[in-house]
Amino acid sequence: MCGIVGVLGNHEAAPILVEALKRLEYRGYDSAGIATVNNGTLARRRAVGKLVNLSDLLVHEPLAGKSGIGHTRWATHGAPTVSNAHPHQAGGVAVVHNGIIENFRELRAELAEAGVTFVTETDTETVALLTQHHIEAGLTPVEAATKTLARLEGAFALAFLFDGHDDLMIAARKGSPLAVGYGEGEMFVGSDAIALSPLTDRISYLEEGDHAIITRSSVAIYDVNGALANRPVKTIQMDTTRIDKGGYKHFMAKEIAEQPGVINTVLQNYLSDTGEITLPGDGIDFSDVDRITMVACGTAYLACFTAKYWFEQIARLPVEVDVASEFRYREPPIPAKTLAVFVSQSGETADTLAALRYCDGKADMIASVVNVPESSIARESDLALSIHAGVEVGVASTKAFTCQLTVLFLLVLKAARDRGKLTDADLEKHIADLRTLPGIINTALAQSGKMQATAQKLSHASDVLFLGRGQMYPLAHEGALKLKEISYIHAEAYASGELKHGPIALVDESVPVIVMAPRDALFDKTVSNMQEVMARKGKVILISDAQGIAEASDGVWSSIEMPSVAEALTPILYALPAQLLAYHTAVAKGTDVDQPRNLAKSVTVE
Ligand code: AGP
Repeated sequence: MCGIVGVLGNHEAAPILVEALKRLEYRGYDSAGIATVNNGTLARRRAVGKLVNLSDLLVHEPLAGKSGIGHTRWATHGAPTVSNAHPHQAGGVAVVHNGIIENFRELRAELAEAGVTFVTETDTETVALLTQHHIEAGLTPVEAATKTLARLEGAFALAFLFDGHDDLMIAARKGSPLAVGYGEGEMFVGSDAIALSPLTDRISYLEEGDHAIITRSSVAIYDVNGALANRPVKTIQMDTTRIDKGGYKHFMAKEIAEQPGVINTVLQNYLSDTGEITLPGDGIDFSDVDRITMVACGTAYLACFTAKYWFEQIARLPVEVDVASEFRYREPPIPAKTLAVFVSQSGETADTLAALRYCDGKADMIASVVNVPESSIARESDLALSIHAGVEVGVASTKAFTCQLTVLFLLVLKAARDRGKLTDADLEKHIADLRTLPGIINTALAQSGKMQATAQKLSHASDVLFLGRGQMYPLAHEGALKLKEISYIHAEAYASGELKHGPIALVDESVPVIVMAPRDALFDKTVSNMQEVMARKGKVILISDAQGIAEASDGVWSSIEMPSVAEALTPILYALPAQLLAYHTAVAKGTDVDQPRNLAKSVTVE
């Protein structure tokens, strides 16, 4: 998953491209590059690693020109090297690409037959070479690019620039999102609206199979059949706030600290002053719903997994949950009266979008829970529920996760009410508990410093187990995912009742076992499992409330005390220690907290 941007502007393009790429770096940061056309001459600069390396290069080797394209890469084909970095250029054609050209080997063979030589191992170079090949055969740039696009199979968002053409850019979308931004005598393209929002608030989205012929004064969009298409131009919320760390050492730390505020924003958006749950549009009438299918990836999937417990226990609604990459190929039957729910922070995760498209026309209703209301998943849902978390830059999802959980919990309450499973009094109690959550999370954040000592010890481990029961079992998975994705320490989660069925063989004095166990109805059973671990010299870190720690912390390696909260809301609160332990452990290890190796924020390729 990469980020692409293009400018036909009235100012020097290089700084505009770099600034836009900063807002796209969450999509990948293995390499970055730009190309510009200056007085008709096409030139490019590329650098391996983070965007800052490209910025450094541009100081010493500046690029002039008011037309340009840019790219930040998460490597799919070919190692992260300068030669594999985008933009790729062949003769007078430069291209940036997000996605995967699945038939690139066939196209390479054809070009090799025609005597064309290759410089890189990437699929994207093939696009540039094929377009140049058509130009050398006498086609115009527009004809050549259009002919090339017709041959491409797979998923792509592409932007082309051409030597000798200061006022021409061609953009195309199939499977990977691409937005066109309309300026004053300027035009832009970008992988998403976030990249373009400092430049313009007038955006239209290319649809599947579209390509656009763009000049500073015109945009001609053609649909998959080659017919002129009219794509609506929307005015979006200008997000000119620079994305910065606000004084924190890392974006992740800032976003963890933002959770009380953004959860409060969720409550303000979905709860009326009188405690009514208010959903956008026509909302969801759960009295017509017999089952729910929830599909997502990564942390968003764990939000669905948590919500499964809530829907089944509070609303008595059966819920199937699955990771999107499995669901989409499992092709499960979708019975009548099924509500399909897709959760995605970015709203662009390829597998989740594909799973949504599988359910389209099968499920009675498709709802999504997203952080980007203009995203592909939101736009293809019957109802998109925003989580109002604000831009989340850290690759490890934190505030988005707790906001997803908060929105899902509100859906659970709505479902329980619609299905007559909650009395007015019970509903009021849940709503009152929700309203205390931001303050309780704020209190939990104060524990951050105390976790550093535990994290310091944890940073020496090579294997860590997380245990949880009931609704804390998905949270054990979230703790394991957070730890491994930013500290690179191997971590696994188990239902604590499963330990005796094999995993306890892993336990010895070198293995920290993190037990996430508020003093709830299952606490005593979890304590028994914890003692089985300690009997085998396992190093237990107990995360519980004051009562739980008072009762069960004898002999543990370390304990982390959480404030008390209504039992139903413990999964939201216990996300905090999961996040903070991972964060402090990663800091102790010196890994890259905001942009961990091999990862990207939004996985827009399958
Ligand atoms: C979470 O910490 C990870 N960065 C990752 O698992 C993420 O949750 C997953 O890729 C889903 O992304 P989405 O919410 O944008 O669909």
